[in-house]
Amino acid sequence: MGKKVFIETYGCQMNTADSEMIATILRQNSYDLVSTHKDADVILINTCSIRDNAEQRIYNRIAQLQHLRKKKKHLKIGVIGCMAERVGELLFEKEGFVNFLAGPDSYRNISDVIEESENKRITDLVLSHIESYEDIVPQKLLESGVSAFVPITRGCENFCTYCVVPYTRGRERSRSLDSIKTEIASHVESGIKEIILLGQNVNSYRHESQEKLEDFPDILGQLAEDFPNTRFRFSTSHPKDISDKLLHVIADHSNICRSVHLPMQSGSSEVLKRMNRKYTREWYLERIDAIRRIIPDCTISSDIIIGFCGETEDDFQQTLSTMKQAQFFYSFMFKYSERSGTVAAKSLKDDVSEEVKTRRLTETIKFQQKLSLQCNVNDKGKIFEVLVEDVSKRNKNELMGRTSQNKVVIFEANILDYPSGSFVNVEITEFSSATLHGKIVEI
Ligand code: SAH
Ligand code: SF4
Ligand code: F3S
Repeated sequence: MGKKVFIETYGCQMNTADSEMIATILRQNSYDLVSTHKDADVILINTCSIRDNAEQRIYNRIAQLQHLRKKKKHLKIGVIGCMAERVGELLFEKEGFVNFLAGPDSYRNISDVIEESENKRITDLVLSHIESYEDIVPQKLLESGVSAFVPITRGCENFCTYCVVPYTRGRERSRSLDSIKTEIASHVESGIKEIILLGQNVNSYRHESQEKLEDFPDILGQLAEDFPNTRFRFSTSHPKDISDKLLHVIADHSNICRSVHLPMQSGSSEVLKRMNRKYTREWYLERIDAIRRIIPDCTISSDIIIGFCGETEDDFQQTLSTMKQAQFFYSFMFKYSERSGTVAAKSLKDDVSEEVKTRRLTETIKFQQKLSLQCNVNDKGKIFEVLVEDVSKRNKNELMGRTSQNKVVIFEANILDYPSGSFVNVEITEFSSATLHGKIVEI
């Protein structure tokens, strides 16, 4: 019998996708994947470094897991992913014993790393310019679920001044369309109905094959045509790459979802400049207008950083007013967290006090709730095609699914009649800021 491995995943969707790939590699090397740390001989903690609180959570987790060593002397704990890459061997000096470290480009050798850690501590953190794990077709970790993540680019070289990702994940690289198609075909065969194409900057995808240069709109259109019964989403888009060409491809294919996640970060051009985001408030709003013009039924969501270096009250008000003009359907909102090694940490002052950051964040969250409600008002009476995900958590006589716009819809129905993965038409009867409620209609 193989060694039992438990993988615990933190951070973004890229990490979830990586964990599925690691699980596949380990299974090919005769390891067994288990669903709780209690049964494991090896625990892999796939980590995130994006903000300080993300790292603190992982330090706490490593400390908490130590008690398992008393019962299982042979237990190995490995820290993998972004925090392994960023913190490196200093992790060995912290409280809580760690047996090995592996960075995001070292997963192909993960079973060797585990084996070698038998007798000593092992570190494998070399970043690659080319590794894109093209030939590995991951199986999903959870057998249920209607969607699958498919990474199409790795790394990021935008160097936003606040961000650790270019340091933890290395240079940007794109994988071939053929390898993407093979992976999607395997998911579709196993019953997956929705593919989420992933990259830190998915719309800067560029791949040259047989002397043909393909960009993101090219491959998105091709995938939508090759898999006509599959829904496509993609995340995350950088505003600098949201071209009219891409928007027309979305508009022309009904199976590409009408929702764009377009992180704005700040509504002040001064702050955006210090962040090295490469666009202004006006430019961002012009792109929002383009989305509204070319795909009128599209929702737009965002990421926002509050309290970045030098953010004045006026800058903050500009963020709120831009959110309003852009009519974000939802936003992920964060207090700025300084990360050592970044340009901001080296050359800008983290000068907005914790108290002011907290106040501004609270205000932003409240503001976003109002915007979310406004985005749902006009849906009452409309009919949407909903992809059924599961039974509603609150009421077992109701089902939960999503519209193409990525809105959650709850409606009365039996899962036996409409199993996960079915498409159903639902007329919206009620709404709140977070959810739509409706009833099934035949059309
Ligand atoms: N590549 C994506 C986002 C990756 S990180 C993009 O560029 O849109 C997800 C989000 O975390 C970012 O959009 C940003 O809003 C936030 N973030 C990144 N670094 C941060 C930091 N140092 N402090 C606070 N939030 C941060
Ligand atoms: Fe970080 Fe900017 Fe790259 Fe996004 S685009 S991962 S925020 S450096
Ligand atoms: Fe975190 Fe790394 Fe993703 S820092 S957000 S896990 S790319």
